[in-house]
Amino acid sequence: MENLLQQVENLKEEMKNFLGEEKDQAEAFRIKFIGSNGSVKSLMGEMKNVAAENKREMGKVLNELKLFAESKYEELKKIAGGKPKITESTIDFTLPGDSLSIGSRHPISIVKNKIVSIFQRLGFSVAEGPEIEDDWHNFTALNLPENHPARDMQDTFYVSQDPAWMLRTHTSSVQVREMEKGDLPIRIICPGRVYRNETISARAHCFFHQVEGLYIADNVSFADLKQTLYFFVQEMFGKDVKVRFRPSYFPFTEPSAEMDISCLICGGEGCNVCKHTGWVEILGCGMVHPNVLENCGIDSGRYSGFAFGMGIERITMLKYQIKDLRIFSENDLRFLKQFVSAV
Ligand code: PHE
Repeated sequence: MENLLQQVENLKEEMKNFLGEEKDQAEAFRIKFIGSNGSVKSLMGEMKNVAAENKREMGKVLNELKLFAESKYEELKKIAGGKPKITESTIDFTLPGDSLSIGSRHPISIVKNKIVSIFQRLGFSVAEGPEIEDDWHNFTALNLPENHPARDMQDTFYVSQDPAWMLRTHTSSVQVREMEKGDLPIRIICPGRVYRNETISARAHCFFHQVEGLYIADNVSFADLKQTLYFFVQEMFGKDVKVRFRPSYFPFTEPSAEMDISCLICGGEGCNVCKHTGWVEILGCGMVHPNVLENCGIDSGRYSGFAFGMGIERITMLKYQIKDLRIFSENDLRFLKQFVSAV
């Protein structure tokens, strides 16, 4: 009886591990185990040698073995049935293939890449930095000491466990990191995601994307700044677009300006997008404040530079005439699919 129980166990194990030829696995299993010459049948034949007092128990064990084999057989049949047999004669190679839907870049990425490539042609290279920043890189080094009222211009998300850390409010923090390296001259653009604690509306979100730029060398002037940005706008929006600079204020630049372009929607005549002024603001800029240079270890007596920063959402909205920036983060395929052919 011991011996017979052992054989039942071995057989079960063998069934579990059974791997026949793939194409008729189920049939091979049936012949080997269940068929009239199969191993289960032959073990059943051993019943006649089992002592009378053990017959009941042994019968039960063998019956279970039989049920196990049958269920395994059904399983194999199902697997085989699920796979259609493909032979060369059933494939029609002349039929068109299944079409794969092609993904597209997000419009924000498309425009970011375009901005980056325009500035790369002018010799700027890309610099990146962390999205979680410390107070020094996001504010203090940029001439916004503690309690400076201009900090309120950029409503900030602080890390609640330690408010010395925050989500960067602009990528100017990357510029600080680059200046601190001390490799001059510097000619960089800093694309990236930034965060501000603002009420979400058609024109503002709690996060958006920026490209900021910085050029520091000997004798950099405001004329260089104007010409660089003028070149950018013409490459981005076409030769007909006009620009104007308005005086503005940023703690990290002096003098500071905001740059407008003529409204692309109405051609300057006045519409809702340009609030009937004919002009749309696209970026802030200015000459890097000497305090910022000194904070980053750069001799402000020798070097000068310009900086600028723009929101990619704003540029994208103007370029593709999109009226509400919330659509950028809604993942609506009807919107995103329209950019398949844009690169
Ligand atoms: N850091 C400014 C902002 O996020 C943009 C800016 C950059 C303005 C550089 C002037 C010079 O609003």
